[in-house]
Amino acid sequence: MKLSKRVLEMQESVTLATAARAKTLKAQGRDILSLTLGEPDFPTPKNIQEAAVAAIEDGKASFYTVTSGLPELKAAVVEYFAKHYGYRIQPNQVTVATGAKFSLYTFFMSVLDPGDEALIPTPYWVSYGDQIKMAEGIPVFVQATEENDFKISVEQLEAARTDKTKVLVLNSPSNPTGMIYTADELLAIGNWALKHDIMILADDIYGRLVYNGNTFTPISSLSEEIRKQTVVINGVSKSYSMTGWRIGYAVGEPEIIAAMSKIAGQTTSNPTTVAQYAAIEALTGSQDTVENMRLAFEERLNTIYPLLAQVPGFEVVKPQGAFYFFPNVKKAMEMKGYTDVTAFTTAILEEVGVALVTGDGFGAPENVRLSYATDLDTLKEAIRRLKDFMEK
Ligand SMILES: Cc1ncc(COP(=O)(O)O)c(C=O)c1O
Repeated sequence: MKLSKRVLEMQESVTLATAARAKTLKAQGRDILSLTLGEPDFPTPKNIQEAAVAAIEDGKASFYTVTSGLPELKAAVVEYFAKHYGYRIQPNQVTVATGAKFSLYTFFMSVLDPGDEALIPTPYWVSYGDQIKMAEGIPVFVQATEENDFKISVEQLEAARTDKTKVLVLNSPSNPTGMIYTADELLAIGNWALKHDIMILADDIYGRLVYNGNTFTPISSLSEEIRKQTVVINGVSKSYSMTGWRIGYAVGEPEIIAAMSKIAGQTTSNPTTVAQYAAIEALTGSQDTVENMRLAFEERLNTIYPLLAQVPGFEVVKPQGAFYFFPNVKKAMEMKGYTDVTAFTTAILEEVGVALVTGDGFGAPENVRLSYATDLDTLKEAIRRLKDFMEK
């Protein structure tokens, strides 16, 4: 069989691939601690589960909904924005999708023509580049470094801009670095994008998961003009521990939102009906569990960060949000005689049974990603083993 050029050129999601490898070894009876997946380890809160059960029992979950989502869910997003973003949107500015990942895909498919360029601050979340390529756009990577807390500047964006630049992808708090742009930094970036008529794709999925007094500012909240230039991507996966339910959404100007719904209408149709009912409860019900989960992540961050910083050769910037550490392991690799990060993480997995994700899929081949979306005992034991590995 001859597969398409499109799929042959596509990268497999590095996070999903490493997680699968760890699961296989576990199934073979190996003692594996996996710090790979970007998935909260808490069960979906009870009130959300119950709303889903009620929707099934009431016979509401059996049918298609409007492709862009249940009116009640859009209304919940409208209220959520009034509360957390500080501005009012209309229901026709919301389209719900099968996960934020699919919202992102419909965005790129809606705005990019072949050869259009999209700027991606690097390190970046694994799927942006490949989704842009699927839409026949060109990902242009703008390198951020540890010295600048993994944040890019307007000067760097300007240096990367061409007359083909159509989109800027912003993900703050960031997966994988956990860094958050300040309001001032975002305002400068937003005004630069406005000046050059570049659309902003604001992936705000980790906006509720910020720690130690750090705050999340949505770029779309900074001015009316910037808001009109921005499509916000958000969802319930990370803040409500609902990764398996697959509900994300996009908020923007009605024209782009309608275009994104059109693509969903010819691909997935509506996101699963029962999951939409669960998402309504997530957004409108008690928010106590969200805060409890946030506090648990914060405790893990503050406990594990100093331990990780003591692992020989691991150099780590303290994250401000999300739930990942992204240490630079250049020195660690040198100490152990590795030049390639995949060989390095494979050795860690084989010798001490700790699964990490290599940084190359995030555009950072000297880094590894550790997710702290797992319990403290597992995290402490994993760091102990990493230390063992390095000291051997
Ligand atoms: C930065 C970022 N955006 C989007 C997503 C996709 O989230 P969802 O589960 O809603 O598809 C993820 C999930 O890992 C993510 O890390």
